[in-house]
Amino acid sequence: MMKGFKVISFLFVAFFVVAFLAACNSSSTGGSSKGVSVGIVLPTKDEPRWVQDEQRFKDALADSEYTTEILFSQGSSAKEKENVETLLNKGIDVLIISPHDGEAAGAAVEAAKKDGVTVIAYDRLITNTDAVDYYVTFDSIAVGAAQAQYLVDNTNGSGVPLYLYAGAASDNNAFLFFEGAWSVLQPKIADGTFKIANSSEAIALQDKPELTRDEMSKILGQVTTNWDPNEAINKAQTHLTAAGADMKGDVAILAPNDGTSRSIADTFAADSEISSYIITGQDAEKASIQYIIDGKQSMTVFKDVRTLVTDAMGMAVDILDGKTPETTGTYDNGEIEVKAKQTDVIVVDQANVKEELIDSEYYEASEFTGL
Ligand code: BGC
Repeated sequence: MMKGFKVISFLFVAFFVVAFLAACNSSSTGGSSKGVSVGIVLPTKDEPRWVQDEQRFKDALADSEYTTEILFSQGSSAKEKENVETLLNKGIDVLIISPHDGEAAGAAVEAAKKDGVTVIAYDRLITNTDAVDYYVTFDSIAVGAAQAQYLVDNTNGSGVPLYLYAGAASDNNAFLFFEGAWSVLQPKIADGTFKIANSSEAIALQDKPELTRDEMSKILGQVTTNWDPNEAINKAQTHLTAAGADMKGDVAILAPNDGTSRSIADTFAADSEISSYIITGQDAEKASIQYIIDGKQSMTVFKDVRTLVTDAMGMAVDILDGKTPETTGTYDNGEIEVKAKQTDVIVVDQANVKEELIDSEYYEASEFTGL
C-alpha cells in the first residue's frame, strides 16, 4: 500500500515536472507566449544614431507576433554581457546585437551560442569568435569612400590642408570607414591635391595605396574620436593649435560621423584663421540635417535604418520559422567568414536633403527650420 502510494506520487511529481518544462520551453518560442523570442542589444543611448535604431525597431515590431526586448549597453562591455545574460534568462531564441567593442563582445555571444541561440551582429561586426551566425550591415567601405569623394569633389586647387578623424578602434567599422576613405584620398594626397595636416603616422604612410590593419591602427591612434564628440573637440583644438598658417585657410575635414562632425565643425568655425571648411559625416542625425540646411556641415551619409531593421527582423523571423535567412555575401571576422546581408548608402547634402529625407518620409519637414 505504502509502496503503491510512493509510485503514484512519483508519477504525479514527474508529470508536473514534465508539464512545467514544456511550458517553459513554449514560452520562449511562441509569439503569443510570455517569453521573449528576439533579444536586441544596442551600444548606447547617448548617441542619437542608436536611439534612432531603437525607435525604428519599435515601429517595425508594432504588429509583430514575436515578442522582443531592447536593452542598451551604455558603452560598457560588462553591461553588454549582463544584458545578453538577462535576455538568455528570458528564453530568447535569436539575439540581435550591435557590440560596444567588437572583440570584447565575443564572450557575450559565446554564452548565447552555448544556450542554442542564433546570433545576428547588427551594423557592427563581432570579431575573433565563431559564435556569430549572421551580420546585417550597411556597406561601410562605401561610407568612407563617399565621404572622401565628397571632399575631392568640393575642394579647389592643390595643397588643400586635410584634417583626418576616425571612429573608435574598438569598432570594426572605424577601420572599414577609414579604409574606404583612404582608397579615395591617398591618390589625391600623392598628386598634391591634399596635404595631411594632423597625423605624422598618416604622412609616413601617404605613399601606400592600401594600408594593413596595423598601419591603420597607427593612424587611428592619433586621430581617433572614440566616437565621442568631446574627445573630437579636444583633438580638433589640439590640432588647430599645433597647425601653422600653411595648414589653415580653406581646409577639408574627414569627420567619421555626424556626432563628431558637428563638434569638429564648431571648433574649426571658431578659429579665425580658418576661412572655409568642407566636412563630412554619416547617420543623417536630425541635428546634422539642421547643420546641413544651415551650411555648418557639408554632407552626411544617409544609412536608412528602416532597411537595416527590416533585414535584421526578417532574418530573425526566418530563423524562428526554421528557414535559412537570405544573405548576399560574407565578412571575415578574423576567425570565420560570417554570412552577411549588406545595404547601400546615400550621400546627402543641401542639394538633395529634402528629396532623400523628407520626401522619403524618413523625417518630417516640421522637424527643421529653413528647409
Ligand atoms: C556606426 C555609425 C555610428 C558609429 C558611432 C558605427 O559603428 O556604423 O553609424 O555613427 O558607430 O556610434
